[in-house]
Amino acid sequence: MTQDNSSQNDSAGQNGGGDLFNTAAGWVLFAAGLGLGLSILSGKFFHGDKPQRPEKLGYVIEGVVEESGSGPAEMTMAEALNKMPAAEQIAAGEKIFQKCSSCHTINAGGANGIGPNLHGVMGEPIGKGRGYAFSADLSSKGGNWDWDTMNAWLKSPKAFASGTKMSFAGLSKIEDRAAVAAYLNAQGSNLPLPAAPAAGAAPEGDASAAPADGASTTDAAAPAATETPAQ
Ligand code: HEC
Repeated sequence: MTQDNSSQNDSAGQNGGGDLFNTAAGWVLFAAGLGLGLSILSGKFFHGDKPQRPEKLGYVIEGVVEESGSGPAEMTMAEALNKMPAAEQIAAGEKIFQKCSSCHTINAGGANGIGPNLHGVMGEPIGKGRGYAFSADLSSKGGNWDWDTMNAWLKSPKAFASGTKMSFAGLSKIEDRAAVAAYLNAQGSNLPLPAAPAAGAAPEGDASAAPADGASTTDAAAPAATETPAQ
């Protein structure tokens, strides 16, 4: 009898333990469920359905940002021409001129090839003289080769004169066109560089800036003249 009782007590004790455990487990589950529910709710409130993207990116992808901001508005020819000292610009242009030298000579009195000799071409009438048979489209263009016409021509000869004989795709970078134009200019032309565009770029118009820039560009053009005999 005592054994039965004790076994009954034991089993009762076990059941009691089981109930306690179940109750505790139930609370844990409830708490977990509550926590999950709350976190889902708060997630709805604080993030919505939007992808999680920091408001400020940790690093800036320079090319992308700059292109979206200033891509369409390219540097002007004047800006590109004033970007570096004249001597550096001319040296850079001489390298790029290798793309032209299959068709053009540039030395004084050089022979015409597929294209005309280009000595002293800056400042001269477009598509005229040089003992060269220019296409009708280029020779009827009118005007002289200056920084702007040369920029447009070198960007896309076809766009400048649709029937041109110059089968050259063009130089897509304004820096390259500026450098080549500066190099051409140093070969027997020596037009003054356009003024640095600081006055035009600043909308407030600092009037005192313009004459100062003009003076400095005249100075900058001087080394070009001294380089000419060396070429
Ligand atoms: C595939 C040959 C070829 C290449 C390469 C070439 N040109 Fe020409 N270029 C010509 C021809 C041909 C003409 C004459 C165009 C016409 O009559 O329509 C010409 C004309 C010109 C003229 C006009 C000259 C004048 O007196 O009006 C300039 C300036 C010129 N080229 C500059 C360049 C420069 C700078 C490059 C290199 C960036 C270059 N060309 C590359 C063939 C070429």
